[in-house]
Amino acid sequence: MKLIIASNNRHKIEEIKAMLGCRFETVLGQREAGLELEVDENAETLEGNAKKKAEEVFALADSMGLLEMGDAVLADDTGLLVDALHGAPGVHSARYATDGHDDAANREKLLYEMRNVPEGERGAHFATAMVLKRKGDTDIEATGRVFGSITTEEAGENGFGYDPLFWYEPMKKTFAEMTAEEKNTVSHRKNALSLVLAALM
Ligand code: IMP
Repeated sequence: MKLIIASNNRHKIEEIKAMLGCRFETVLGQREAGLELEVDENAETLEGNAKKKAEEVFALADSMGLLEMGDAVLADDTGLLVDALHGAPGVHSARYATDGHDDAANREKLLYEMRNVPEGERGAHFATAMVLKRKGDTDIEATGRVFGSITTEEAGENGFGYDPLFWYEPMKKTFAEMTAEEKNTVSHRKNALSLVLAALM
């Protein structure tokens, strides 16, 4: 069985591939599968965006004859929800600072918005909405979360996006200070994927 990951984000694709194990014989990123499209993520919820990505990528792959019975498309939409900012940037996480996907600018804006928030009130969580759209079968949907807090400066070189600002207390480091293996054991994406894979059994 083949799985196409509905994303052009190489970090996200690498993480999902590393966590999947051998449930699918072939796992391809969107571009690797020959699918050139940029889905407009304009839904009002993470779940809505994940569904939109899964549907649009599935429709294109199917129209190109890439999907056989049992093959699937996996989409994930992720947001960082900060308590002191009433859940912002949330579904707008990718375009928080600018209209493009500028991770460094997003982190800078988040640090600025949090400049007067004291320690103890800097709680936040990542949420990943995931949709597995299968050919010839029902969709599977799940949301995974991980709870932590926002640091006052960046720390760590690994990961991507908001990882250098996300402190994970049980490991006493930011997500960007973790190895890929460590992040993939505890992350929002891992929690979402575990639920999806459990529903597949
Ligand atoms: P999307 O799910 O690709 O739309 O990502 C939304 C925003 O969240 C982008 O700014 C990403 O860089 C960021 N993001 C997504 N996943 C992660 C993650 O695992 N860690 C940190 N930031 C992330």
